[in-house]
Amino acid sequence: MLNKTEELRADFEKALGEVKDQASLEGVRVRFLGRKGGFLTEILRGLKDLNPEERRLMGAAANQLKKEFEARMAEAEQGLQEKPKTTIDLTLPGPEIKIGRLHPLTQIIRESVGFFEKIGFQAWEGPEIETEWYNFDALNTPADHPARDMQDTFYLAPGVLLRSHTSPVQVRVMEKEKPPLRIITAGRCYRRDAQDASHSPVFHQLEGLMVEKGTNFTHLKGVLTMFLEHIFPFSFKTRFTPSFFPFTEPSAEVSISCPVCQAKGCSSCGRSGFLEILGCGMVHPNVLRNVGYKQKDLTGFAFGVGIERIAMVKYGIPDIRLFYENDVRFLRQF
Ligand code: PHE
Repeated sequence: MLNKTEELRADFEKALGEVKDQASLEGVRVRFLGRKGGFLTEILRGLKDLNPEERRLMGAAANQLKKEFEARMAEAEQGLQEKPKTTIDLTLPGPEIKIGRLHPLTQIIRESVGFFEKIGFQAWEGPEIETEWYNFDALNTPADHPARDMQDTFYLAPGVLLRSHTSPVQVRVMEKEKPPLRIITAGRCYRRDAQDASHSPVFHQLEGLMVEKGTNFTHLKGVLTMFLEHIFPFSFKTRFTPSFFPFTEPSAEVSISCPVCQAKGCSSCGRSGFLEILGCGMVHPNVLRNVGYKQKDLTGFAFGVGIERIAMVKYGIPDIRLFYENDVRFLRQF
């Protein structure tokens, strides 16, 4: 019988060692000290079947065990309450959390598209994989046109290529929508250019198109001047020079006076005093015809801007490759 109390003590200590919280502690109490079915209660109840000598010994042992268990329970309960105090040092600085940000090119795209949306342009997207029709033919650039040489680029299949500019989006939208329309689009373009400080075979363009009866070159000039003044944080002069694109007539190139030398001529602007920013012009009648617009007096303007070019001029970045290297020392400056 006395051996049994030793066994019981060992069981009790084992159960107590596994206690993790108030609930499991309560479980131990019920199991060993509970009035109904608790081990000790059962022993005390069984005393009546023993002879007087045994009854005295067992009774004393059981009462002793009961006191001991109650004391150990109280200790365990205390221990549970103390636990949380020991773990966290609230005076330590927290781990540094690195917060990301938008890539500078994404920032320029969003700022530019946002500007044009404010003046009534609608944002559109077009595919990066294009057909020759959208990338060239519909834009008045037939297969034998010399202007194709510069952009006849990455073919995925006969007649299917990575777009070399965002101008095909003009055609796609005009096919779907009737004039008047004002649209803006931005995205990746691909050309067979060797990578150097100012060229990349993958780059980004922003493209705008307005088609509406009565649209003329002064609207083009006004809209682009407003845009450039919005996007560049310094003061400058704008210059429109005659140029050529198969899909616009007349065509122009827009430059701004060099912000580094104030148009005096320096190494940033190749001593010319001006920086070329974009190409533009009045939509060629053949393009309007190609998309099925029949109205005779319909006119429009279009422009295409290099996003990298804007970012480089705006922030004084000397090398286009910096945009694609994912070096956080560069990226975190924006
Ligand atoms: N698509 C031309 C280019 O990539 C730019 C352009 C767009 C010119 C629209 C005129 C009108 O060079």
